[in-house]
Amino acid sequence: MKTPLPRSRPCINWSLMLGILLIACASLGLNPAHADSRAGATLAQQGGSGISACVSCHGARGEGQAATGFPRLAGQPQAYLLRQMQAFADGTRKNPMMEPIARALSAQQMRDLADHYAGLPGWSAPVKTGSPDPAAAPGPRLATAGNWDKEIPACFACHGPGGAGIAPHFPAITGQPRAYTRTQLKAWQAGTRSNDSQGLMKSVADRMTDADIEAVSLYLENPAATGRSE
Ligand code: HEC
Ligand code: HEC
Repeated sequence: MKTPLPRSRPCINWSLMLGILLIACASLGLNPAHADSRAGATLAQQGGSGISACVSCHGARGEGQAATGFPRLAGQPQAYLLRQMQAFADGTRKNPMMEPIARALSAQQMRDLADHYAGLPGWSAPVKTGSPDPAAAPGPRLATAGNWDKEIPACFACHGPGGAGIAPHFPAITGQPRAYTRTQLKAWQAGTRSNDSQGLMKSVADRMTDADIEAVSLYLENPAATGRSE
């Protein structure tokens, strides 16, 4: 049996036309504010003129590298990623590997890359493995409750439950290589990372001892290892 065709179909679907027009404009570069995550993915994988492929350091899926301490980018808020690339380019965040790369990126490429990495899946806790490192013991407390005597607020108060981040400005801090978290906290203390708005992280880092930094960095790498991630 034949299904009857719908009787009166408009010959032009205006919203479809508008969609096609917008896509055409974007691909012609007529809409420079538009971020193109596919262009970002290609650049991340292949690099470009003066731009090394991001995957060679940040991992095939933006998951970072524990051994070298290169950070995870996948799943971080887009606005956060964009600000960091701008900071490496303008020198308010120092790093010999990232500064030249960021300076070689156009504003459009930065947006495309931020869009691409923000769209990849973020960290999720692996099944609880091994026994926790004893040096990580004070970590969960700092992360979830802070240290009132030293006026260190709970990390998760700003970074969200489980440290999973709150878009647009608070990055995820769980699942980052321990070496990376340690380096960042020390960079705020030393003033080599100074692009955070209102100096929020500098004032947190300045109150931390080396032992605090070690404990929280170990814990945040994999909160599941200590069995506490609330
Ligand atoms: C040669 C290795 C290398 C390459 C290639 C590289 N990066 Fe990085 N990237 C790093 C390192 C190391 C850091 C951490 C810097 C620090 O300690 O402040 C970093 C940090 C970042 C950050 C900040 C992350 C955060 O959580 O704050 C962003 C964003 C970033 N890179 C984006 C990119 C993009 C996009 C590309 C490709 C265009 C790229 N990187 C290529 C090594 C690299
Ligand atoms: C008052 C709010 C606040 C608190 C509390 C806080 N942070 Fe942050 N943190 C921020 C902001 C904002 C940023 C992003 C800074 C930027 O844009 O450069 C940040 C960034 C970070 C980063 C960099 C992440 C990356 O990918 O580079 C680390 C690591 C970090 N915080 C660790 C901690 C730890 C550990 C604690 C607890 C001891 C903590 N934070 C407590 C606001 C906070």
